[in-house]
Amino acid sequence: PVENQIANKLLAHYDAQARSLPWRSPPGAPPADPYRVWLSEIMLQQTTVAAAAPYFERFTKRWPTVEALAAAEDADLMAAWAGLGYYARARNLLATARAVAGKGFPDTEAGLRELPGIGGYTAAAIAAIAFGHRAVVVDANVERVVARLFAIADPLPGAKPAIRAAADSITPDGRAGDFAQAMMDLGATICTVRAPACLACPIHEHCAGYVSGDPTAFPVKAAK
Ligand code: ADE
Repeated sequence: PVENQIANKLLAHYDAQARSLPWRSPPGAPPADPYRVWLSEIMLQQTTVAAAAPYFERFTKRWPTVEALAAAEDADLMAAWAGLGYYARARNLLATARAVAGKGFPDTEAGLRELPGIGGYTAAAIAAIAFGHRAVVVDANVERVVARLFAIADPLPGAKPAIRAAADSITPDGRAGDFAQAMMDLGATICTVRAPACLACPIHEHCAGYVSGDPTAFPVKAAK
């Protein structure tokens, strides 16, 4: 089926081109430490990869485990977070660290969602990347990739359920974390908002947006 071809091509491209990021394990390797995956996903919620990376390096040097982070003074953590913004994230970070210290992170989406600061997207990302569970991981980048791939003509936000269903249809059973991160990388580096590099895209032959001649028409935004 074409869905498998799409996933396989994306994974092969990821094997060759994955961005090497400090919280990632290499393509095909066992999943990364849930603490590092969680910390990176919280930092990346409202911060770019380039801005988050040096913070991630500093945090994990200073607090190498979730137990170490749980024992941090609130003021030290807030000071280390300075510059990242959205300080509710830092307060939730400590609350979650203290909730899981000594017992580890829950390994299901439902369990993860009960923790402060972890919503649907972040729970799915951690379940896939840290635990290897099949999960449908849809952030704004992935939304754009999928809306283009299937030329979804309904405007956002109404199209969100259709986009999720389409993302689900191409999500493979194996290599959950690599697939999620392959989609994120595609959206960040090739299937960009204004000038997608379709000829560099491993799945452009399957992309209805590319075939339409104007992939940037998707996702369609609701009229203001
Ligand atoms: N944005 C959010 N999570 C990410 C990840 N794991 N890799 C790259 N970009 C991301």
